[in-house]
Amino acid sequence: MNDHKTIMKTKLIPTQNTLRVPTRRAMIDLLNQQLADVLDLGLQAKQAHWNVKGPHFIGLHELFDKVAEQLEEFTDDIAERAVELGGTALGTVQVVSKNSRLNAYPLDLTSGKSHVVALSGALAAFGASVREAIDTAAKHGDADTADLFTEISRGVDKLLWFVEAHLQAKE
Ligand SMILES: [Fe+2]
Repeated sequence: MNDHKTIMKTKLIPTQNTLRVPTRRAMIDLLNQQLADVLDLGLQAKQAHWNVKGPHFIGLHELFDKVAEQLEEFTDDIAERAVELGGTALGTVQVVSKNSRLNAYPLDLTSGKSHVVALSGALAAFGASVREAIDTAAKHGDADTADLFTEISRGVDKLLWFVEAHLQAKE
């Protein structure tokens, strides 16, 4: 993962939400960082879905699409919470390309194994950042954002299992 952070500061939109302004600001930045990462990850899963080849083609093709679908749900929850707190969701490809901390997905992969290795690595890296996000949200006293990231973290662990299981036993 790269560690550059260039989250744009946007104006807070007034809301009757009772979380304190500094907490909301910190959470909006946190949510937007995770939003950039999860959007990148979702496209990585699609990249794998479109390009995988080999004897396990159909199983992997379908699994990678399921991964992308699940990540899309997480994406929506993250983006909408940033807006609920009075923020702006930063989800354009330009922002994502600048802010995602994931390694770029390789464009030259074909075999099922190479896609499984690449995608499981990306899921694990994202999973680690979500675990950090749980702690950050808890430290700021936002139990709801911490809970959202806890749910996502559990989901990402499951997706990682589904993908990584292909590497965990000989045929
Ligand atoms: Fe498809």
